[in-house]
Amino acid sequence: MATGGGAHEEQVAVVTGAAQGLGLGIAHHLARGGAQVVMVDLQAEKVTAAAAEVVGAGGQAEGVCADVTCSDQVKKLFRDVVQRHGQIDVLINNAGLGQDVAAITELSDEHWQRVIDVTLTGTFFCCRSAGRWMRRQESGTIVNISSINGINPAALVAAYNVAKAGVISLTRTLALELAAYGVRVNAVCPGPVYTDFNRRVMSQRCESLAITEDEMIERVRQAIPLGRWGEPADIANAVGFLCSRSAAWMTGEVVRVSGGLEGVSAAPPKQPLTEADL
Ligand SMILES: NC(=O)c1ccc[n+]([C@@H]2O[C@H](COP(=O)([O-])OP(=O)(O)OC[C@H]3O[C@@H](n4cnc5c(N)ncnc54)[C@H](O)[C@@H]3O)[C@@H](O)[C@H]2O)c1
Repeated sequence: MATGGGAHEEQVAVVTGAAQGLGLGIAHHLARGGAQVVMVDLQAEKVTAAAAEVVGAGGQAEGVCADVTCSDQVKKLFRDVVQRHGQIDVLINNAGLGQDVAAITELSDEHWQRVIDVTLTGTFFCCRSAGRWMRRQESGTIVNISSINGINPAALVAAYNVAKAGVISLTRTLALELAAYGVRVNAVCPGPVYTDFNRRVMSQRCESLAITEDEMIERVRQAIPLGRWGEPADIANAVGFLCSRSAAWMTGEVVRVSGGLEGVSAAPPKQPLTEADL
């Protein structure tokens, strides 16, 4: 599944949520392969610095501040990319928001909505805009970052599970709709990688289980058949393959990249109830 140097030569690639974590790893990977990478993130300063880091490593990149939950900003983003670069070959929908650990019975309207907005609706907005340009070009490839939670839901993060399952369904639907135009759409489902996102979720789970962070890290490691946490490069390698010519006959695929981990199915114990629960 490895992609060699130059696998992304002459590709114009947009990566969302690229200021840090997996998105930054993907941007580095595509740039190393020769792509011109447009790195998009809500964090303006951080994405500018991240793009400078990719350029410093010898790649071609620019940082753009945009909010994927804003339909108008997303339309403008892709219009600007095509105006500046003449085409859009690759879209990686990586921006996503983890859920605060909470049972469905305790989940607020606002938090449910925010997680769905960023993780699912933001992916839809970007797929729709880029899909229109790619359909017109009759070329292009999209990789949506889902999660193993999108296949096997974990307890206490329902909004996130639902959003990521939605990303899988969106991927497979769009793959069918754009196949006639030669546009490929696939999804990658990462397992645990120790980014800011995962650190936040882990610390909340540690609290609820009354164990230390180190114990939690070790528990997760032991649950992974290949015996180690993932690295951003593990995810970037799979994403790079899917948007390279080596994957020319793959569309509508959902590729798990998780060291063999299928999901976490532990059921939480009973909690004391209060009147406010009703
Ligand atoms: N880290 C993991 O273990 C893991 C596992 C499975 C799936 N994922 C998925 O991979 C993706 C990247 O995860 P990560 O661990 O790098 O997360 P992260 O939180 O470290 O990075 C996410 C980036 O997205 C940006 N972002 C958030 N909302 C945005 C918005 N509205 N518009 C534009 N940018 C926005 C953030 O500013 C941040 O830079 C996410 O979709 C996540 O759900 C991560």
